[in-house]
Amino acid sequence: MKGLEQKRIILGVTGGIAAYKSAELVRRLMEQGADVQVVMTTAACEFITPLTFQALSGHPVRCESFDTSSEAAMSHIELARWADAVLVAPCSANTLAKIAGGIADNLLTTLILATDAPLLLAPAMNQQMWAQSTTAENVNSLAVKGIKILGPDIGEQACGDLGAGRMLEPDQLVDALIQSFQHLAFAGQRILITAGPTREAIDPVRFLSNRSSGKMGYALARAAREAGAAVTLISGPSVLATPAGIDVISVETAAEMHSAVMAHISKAGIFIGCAAVADYRLAEPASEKLKKQADSIQLTLVKNADILAEVAALPNPPFTVGFAAETSHLIENAREKLQRKHLNLIAANQVGDNQGFDQDDNELTVIWQDGQVELPSSSKNQLAKKLLEIIAQHYFQKSQPENNEKHPT
Ligand code: PMT
Repeated sequence: MKGLEQKRIILGVTGGIAAYKSAELVRRLMEQGADVQVVMTTAACEFITPLTFQALSGHPVRCESFDTSSEAAMSHIELARWADAVLVAPCSANTLAKIAGGIADNLLTTLILATDAPLLLAPAMNQQMWAQSTTAENVNSLAVKGIKILGPDIGEQACGDLGAGRMLEPDQLVDALIQSFQHLAFAGQRILITAGPTREAIDPVRFLSNRSSGKMGYALARAAREAGAAVTLISGPSVLATPAGIDVISVETAAEMHSAVMAHISKAGIFIGCAAVADYRLAEPASEKLKKQADSIQLTLVKNADILAEVAALPNPPFTVGFAAETSHLIENAREKLQRKHLNLIAANQVGDNQGFDQDDNELTVIWQDGQVELPSSSKNQLAKKLLEIIAQHYFQKSQPENNEKHPT
């Protein structure tokens, strides 16, 4: 796996002669699999043209806060949310001071204030400016807040001075960015998740299905992605927007979900079966729309493959996490599924009476062989994060050190 695969990077370019190196930086970031969007200050445009970055990144380059056409395509707030990391290279003394002071007077400083993505700054300035006590104070206050300061390097400067202030080379910046993602719990891991309902055809216009919206599975996919994993989401029909940075495979029937899972499972270190897969399908769906004639009709159903159980029974299974949707005897039934399907973990939820299916909130009991933990009612986004923390604890625990080696991405 490339070091920045599926990572969305905003590269901020500020005014400085080192801006020419940022063109090379875009190429290096993209070679590592990153999707790069460039935001330039007005001063940066004096050193290098936006067109250069547009050609290299494949995205329009943003320069002005109030560029209405760009705002219509992706607003600065959407851009701030889009990013997995913001790297400012070169970062001038002026921009560094603005960020330290919380000033937001151009697009770059505004989106830095609006993003919760990690921020990395690669200062580049004259050695005298770098040596100024005000610059040092700004750097310290940024570092205390957890903002990564990359460099600067010491050497000969464009102005002829010798000293600290040169921007690090593009390769060094890319390495630092890759390292900044390494601390994430699932960095380098590949997780396969199923979500949503399946539909089993009765005839060309009717189907059997269930109330799953996909909210829980999509929340898990987003949380896994935020925790550094490469995520493949196999989704039954859902109206939810495709989460950014995630490979989504859309399916309709349980049989299609089964095929898609089996086609992708060998690469996954972790499998989470959150989909509400139909247990049965029609033995013979009608090829024509059924006519309303008889007072009653009978549909013959046959069993679908149990995807979760099949995954757990593979010769070299991934760490396998199931869900149990129960209307009664929640823990007892979930524990029975954990044992029967040979799962590592199962997340049990009470369903029916406006619980579980198609709700924004939920509550889960996460169960394993010799323990369980309650995750009280909260949003599915929060639950997804907590469930992934529990999965990480079990997945990486000492008894399974081979997991990392078994499924490298
Ligand atoms: O999508 P939402 O609206 O957000 O709702 C979330 C949810 C309620 C659907 C989710 O939290 C949930 O409980 N998902 C599992 C639903 C389900 O089918 O549960 P089950 O107890 O019937 O199945 C047990 C496990 O076996 C599940 O992991 C299921 O994915 C899996 N299974 C079931 C049948 C089958 N043929 N193949 C399977 O893999």
